[in-house]
Amino acid sequence: MADERPVKVGSTDNEEALYRDLAREFGTPLLVYDQTVVEQHYNALSEALPGVRLFYAVKALPQAQVIQTIDRLGGGFDVASGGETDLLLGLKVFGRRTIHTHPVKKDEEIRTALRYGVTTFVIDNTYELEKFIPYRSRVGLVLRVSFRSPGAIVDLSRKFGCNLAEVSAIVRRANELGVHVKGLSFHVGSQCTDANKHVESIEKCSAVMHQLNAESSNLMNVLDIGGGFPADYDRKGVRISEFCAPIRRALAGLPPDWDILAEPGRYLVAAAVTSITSVVGRSVRDGLNWYYLDDGVYGSYSGQIYDHACYPLQVFGEGDLYRSVLAGPTCDSIDIIAEDIMLPALHTGDLVIGHEMGAYTAATRTRFNSLPDARFLDLATRKVVD
Ligand SMILES: Cc1ncc(COP(=O)(O)O)c(C=O)c1O
Repeated sequence: MADERPVKVGSTDNEEALYRDLAREFGTPLLVYDQTVVEQHYNALSEALPGVRLFYAVKALPQAQVIQTIDRLGGGFDVASGGETDLLLGLKVFGRRTIHTHPVKKDEEIRTALRYGVTTFVIDNTYELEKFIPYRSRVGLVLRVSFRSPGAIVDLSRKFGCNLAEVSAIVRRANELGVHVKGLSFHVGSQCTDANKHVESIEKCSAVMHQLNAESSNLMNVLDIGGGFPADYDRKGVRISEFCAPIRRALAGLPPDWDILAEPGRYLVAAAVTSITSVVGRSVRDGLNWYYLDDGVYGSYSGQIYDHACYPLQVFGEGDLYRSVLAGPTCDSIDIIAEDIMLPALHTGDLVIGHEMGAYTAATRTRFNSLPDARFLDLATRKVVD
């Protein structure tokens, strides 16, 4: 089956020289992190969603340099495990700017987060609600609602979130238990390219919040609109201000004193990381040129399996294009990055570049075949940090 992803042959500006230079100095496989891209994307999303407090979803790329960049910009953090909380703690990020959004947690994890200073936690059912009875004086809960997103590449409402019709019963139970549910949250699904999913979810949640606020003195005034903001995998350009325009309009209709949060992961980090791999071997099999690289789907390209992402590629050869396969370094046949793409003839030592490789890539890689992880290079300091 032909692979439809964007493949660029050749170089603009000094790209090729830069990648060759980095490969020569640090070796491959390499993941190159450019903090200026995170800064641009954070600022662009902040401007596209004025008044919305951004909490970076640490799971997308739990790397110290990224966390430090977001922290410097004044952003908050969304954690979903004790490990992510520990990571922030180790980096001395202020706990009060962190929310815990995993709807199902061990008690130990709740206590770790509380000790760290987290006061906002997400739940999506009454069993989880009851876990907070001992901590009710210290927390404000956010109830996650499920809105199925068949159009998103990753439908995050399949596993978590209550139905809208269940919200009032859960909130009523919380009121009986004296646990404050301060608002609602949702996730429209990751890599969601239709902002109307956000709009519909905002409208439905706000209607329920208004109704519950009219019935009770325990006011709900937090709406967490989750993540889902897309990366530019198809290289057509994501104009985030344009994308968010309908979301802005929907948010403008909410009471001005409501606290609106978002949990962006992918949009903030995807474009900030570039993968550099080398061709380590080649073969001709059934009329196709096969190139074996030093990174693959068990490594930095793991998002092709877990995240269903398809990363834009770039090579620097010249001449005719041939049907080609790019395979990773492990012994497994699943370890194929691109099944049938048109490439010029490549040679051992040539570079293959993967773009938009910051989100859910290094985060989900394995060490299968005892192969080392791609090293993580911070472009700002030109230091390998892993
Ligand atoms: C609860 C939660 N919040 C935020 C995110 C980040 O979403 P995205 O990367 O689509 O922005 C995720 C992704 O899995 C998530 O599960």
